[in-house]
Amino acid sequence: MERTGSGINWKNLALLTLGVAGTLFWIAQAPASDDAVFPMPSGRLYAAECGGCHTAYAPGFLPARSWRRMMNELADHFGEDVSLPEPERLAILKDLELLAADNPQASQRMRRIAASIPANAAPQRISETAFFRFMHDEVPNHFWRRKKIGSKANCGACHIRADQGRYGEREVRIPPAD
Ligand code: HEC
Ligand code: HEC
Repeated sequence: MERTGSGINWKNLALLTLGVAGTLFWIAQAPASDDAVFPMPSGRLYAAECGGCHTAYAPGFLPARSWRRMMNELADHFGEDVSLPEPERLAILKDLELLAADNPQASQRMRRIAASIPANAAPQRISETAFFRFMHDEVPNHFWRRKKIGSKANCGACHIRADQGRYGEREVRIPPAD
């Protein structure tokens, strides 16, 4: 990855905000990359039920309405039936809402993610949000197809502590070509 001499990526200074009208804003003063830590649900339920097939995604990457929609459609989750008993489903939904990008206690970074998602949209893929694309536009397309990566959704392939909600620059290791 291209870095400036000081190791500060210019992207850490700003996040792309994509307005409903397609207006682009640059917002300065994002925290340093080491603050790219997102809160994760406590306890083992979330990791056990939502971290077995892929990275246990930090709830702070999507607004609560996205998670509500997802948790209402578990019988057809990207082609998989991942239905849960109602108590587990409700417990996970509660955690997701509590830590979602638009929760009242969200960090600045999470609030910017929330602001970049149009109010009438409830995206189901983190990897297709404007925020994600902006943060990864320096990653060459063929990287995503490397065997040990395979998909943009495979956060943990490169963000080695993604399951703990840690996405800081210093904890990125891109697997080498096959
Ligand atoms: C049986 C396996 C399985 C389980 C269990 C599962 N998922 Fe998924 N999930 C998938 C598949 C397959 C995809 C699509 C991945 C891809 O395109 O690479 C996916 C994608 C996602 C995405 C979008 C990733 C992106 O592209 O940004 C989110 C968010 C997600 N899952 C959340 C959850 C949550 C929350 C739970 C727990 C309720 C859960 N998943 C449980 C299989 C699973
Ligand atoms: C091909 C490896 C790769 C995959 C897979 C990947 N990323 Fe990244 N990600 C990177 C790189 C490289 C950067 C830029 C690091 C830098 O220089 O700051 C980055 C940056 C980020 C940042 C910004 C961190 C900061 O310092 O502000 C976030 C947040 C992030 N990624 C989240 C995700 C999420 C969520 C997923 C999965 C849905 C994901 N990434 C998948 C390689 C990857």
